[in-house]
Amino acid sequence: MTRRTPTLLPAGLLALCAAMAAPASAFAADAAAASPSLLPRAVSVQAMPGRLVLAGNTHFVAREPRAKQVLAQLVRLAGDALPDTALRSASAGATLELKIVPGLDVPAEGYRLHIAPDGGVLQAADADGLFNGAMTLLQLLKRDADGTAWLPAVRIDDAPRFAWRGLMLDSARHFQSVDEIKRLLDAMAELKLDTFHWHLTDDQGWRFPVPGWPKLTEVGNCRIPAGDGGIDAATGTPVPYCGFYTEAQVREVVAHAAALHIDVVPEVDIPGHATAAISAYPQLGVSGQPIAVSNEWGVNVNLFNADETTLRFLEDVMGQLVNLFPGRYVHIGGDEAVKDQWKASPNMQARIRELGVKADAGLQAWMVARLERYVSAHDRRLIGWDEILDGDLPESATVMSWRGTEGGIAAAKRGHDVVMAPWNKLYLDYLQTMSPSEEPGRPTQVTLETVYAFDPVPEVLDARQAKHIIGVQANVWTEHMRSFARVQHAVFPRIAALAESAWTQKSGRDYQDFLQRLPSLLPRWQARGIVAAKTPFQPLVEAAMEATGKARVTLAQPLGYEIRYTTDGSVPTAGSPRYAQPVSLALPATLQAGAFFGDTALAAPVARDLSVASLLSRSDEELAMCTGQLMLRLEDDGPREGARAIYNVDIFNPCWSWKQAPLAGIAAVEVRAGRIPYFFQLAHDEHARKFKPAKTAHGELELRAGCDGPLLATLPMPASTDADGFVTLRAPLRDAPASTDLCLWFTGDTRPAMWVLDRATLVPATP
Ligand code: ACM
Repeated sequence: MTRRTPTLLPAGLLALCAAMAAPASAFAADAAAASPSLLPRAVSVQAMPGRLVLAGNTHFVAREPRAKQVLAQLVRLAGDALPDTALRSASAGATLELKIVPGLDVPAEGYRLHIAPDGGVLQAADADGLFNGAMTLLQLLKRDADGTAWLPAVRIDDAPRFAWRGLMLDSARHFQSVDEIKRLLDAMAELKLDTFHWHLTDDQGWRFPVPGWPKLTEVGNCRIPAGDGGIDAATGTPVPYCGFYTEAQVREVVAHAAALHIDVVPEVDIPGHATAAISAYPQLGVSGQPIAVSNEWGVNVNLFNADETTLRFLEDVMGQLVNLFPGRYVHIGGDEAVKDQWKASPNMQARIRELGVKADAGLQAWMVARLERYVSAHDRRLIGWDEILDGDLPESATVMSWRGTEGGIAAAKRGHDVVMAPWNKLYLDYLQTMSPSEEPGRPTQVTLETVYAFDPVPEVLDARQAKHIIGVQANVWTEHMRSFARVQHAVFPRIAALAESAWTQKSGRDYQDFLQRLPSLLPRWQARGIVAAKTPFQPLVEAAMEATGKARVTLAQPLGYEIRYTTDGSVPTAGSPRYAQPVSLALPATLQAGAFFGDTALAAPVARDLSVASLLSRSDEELAMCTGQLMLRLEDDGPREGARAIYNVDIFNPCWSWKQAPLAGIAAVEVRAGRIPYFFQLAHDEHARKFKPAKTAHGELELRAGCDGPLLATLPMPASTDADGFVTLRAPLRDAPASTDLCLWFTGDTRPAMWVLDRATLVPATP
């Protein structure tokens, strides 16, 4: 569950027809673009004739220690692209010098680059600016097929729009290795992102040591995953999911980031999202009773208490953050702290009276103010989620606006600095396309274009207030990202859109132009070992039966790149037919379709074997949700190791809809269903759950013509699945209309597990 208040979402967002409404602006590559392609786009780029060849006695020079460090990072990130000869300082010859010139008239973090065929210079007023310029050099660096490395002759003046260009990674819900985080940091740096917000504690795990509080990383660092994922199938014994970063590992991440001119902002979530810490030390909680580290997603009710001893603990934690993280900001969370436990606790109510604060929100504000004093005294600034605005907030506190932009607007008007990170624009656990190959996440879409189009400065702010918008950040919540492959899928390519929103001036932003530059990043990421999401670079396929008995195939490309396809089993190439409009294919047929930028295939093609039978069968991804109240794309809980089924499900209303299902001549519907643990804590949103009452012990499968329409069939569900984790039921149809929105519904509150639809197949009457 993404940590967003699960307000109700518009219905039917999964309808494939919506996917087919993807942008139609396919375009061809302009391979001969005169101006070098930079991403994020620079303020001013003036292409000049010629190139600086990096061979012979042309070499890079940095004389001053900070410039040498920048050059060392450029060399590391360039890898083989930068030849040795370019670094062997000859006593004579052409040079490309990296130079810090104090007082140089460039904006903050800006740089000036001039490359000519006989040498060049990169200048900045400070090391941050020089590093940004070096990342531009990294993107300009080219290598011809014969191995010749070169830079185009160019003049560039550049500087960022925002100081905070951030990406947040949640290492609490799922844990990433230090090497994986370093890879992410390298990719951030190349895109001139400069802030890594590290979410280190939550209900599901505590991930760093604090001196004097050893159980945080002995108890709070492990949970038993829900369902089969937490049990050894052979022995039946629980298998915990554990992880924390040692002090040395934290320092390693911080040092790696620092060399890349990236600040690390650690987050410890207070007073909610605190279950892991309270599991380690029950005295920090409201009841004092032992609890387990949570294995459920959502909004948990456990809060820290506000006793003096707990505040001392929190100050110890802040002290450790100050000790381990040299950056300017410390993030204290503050989000989704539902106050039920405080309200019900005589001790906390007495504490509220004793402190003379305004009820529960006042108590949270008091804790925030107390921690703000601590971090200020240690020369740091406090930042928190926008809930910290509920109450008196010290003016020096910065607000991260996530529940939309409203919190950020209110904060800027009250004089606080603001980082914009609204969930519906910049949460990368939301899916990026309608493809059935998306990884688990939330099926509402945050597309590449959504991220690109977001402007961090709301128009309602006047110039003085707008200055408080110090930046923008995308957040990667990892409930549904059990592997780093899934983190990469979420981050790439949307991180490129974020980078341009964070760096490029508003006047320089242009989505279509961005799409022309994006493909050049794909081989760079690949060379860095980054596996970007394929789904945005593949066609979406919709196939339906025509009255002629042929398949009508509609293709769409989420980003508008050109589609080429084959029907002879071969992989499409740049010479294959270009898709322009729906095609009719005699059945059976084999379709392969790929997206192209000029001659370059952007990802592996999608392949579909089409037959009369396949057109009568749909997976959950190919169906709409009936109401779409709290939709998730969820992974099965088992097997513990290896691939797991993935389901699109509305956990408040398990009902799927096959729009305009062709039921003429259909005798039955075969439904394959799976079962997943109901592992969600939804605090005040629980009341919105609308499980339909069941008539039998384990609920029924109901088929209806339209969700409020006549019942076509009903079958009791069994107590459990077959050994493979699925059941297949055949529901005979009676009096079904020839075409209808076929609703497939599981009734009953079957918690702690719930039925989920894997596939529905229409079974024709035998003649
Ligand atoms: C959040 O997503 N709860 C900050």
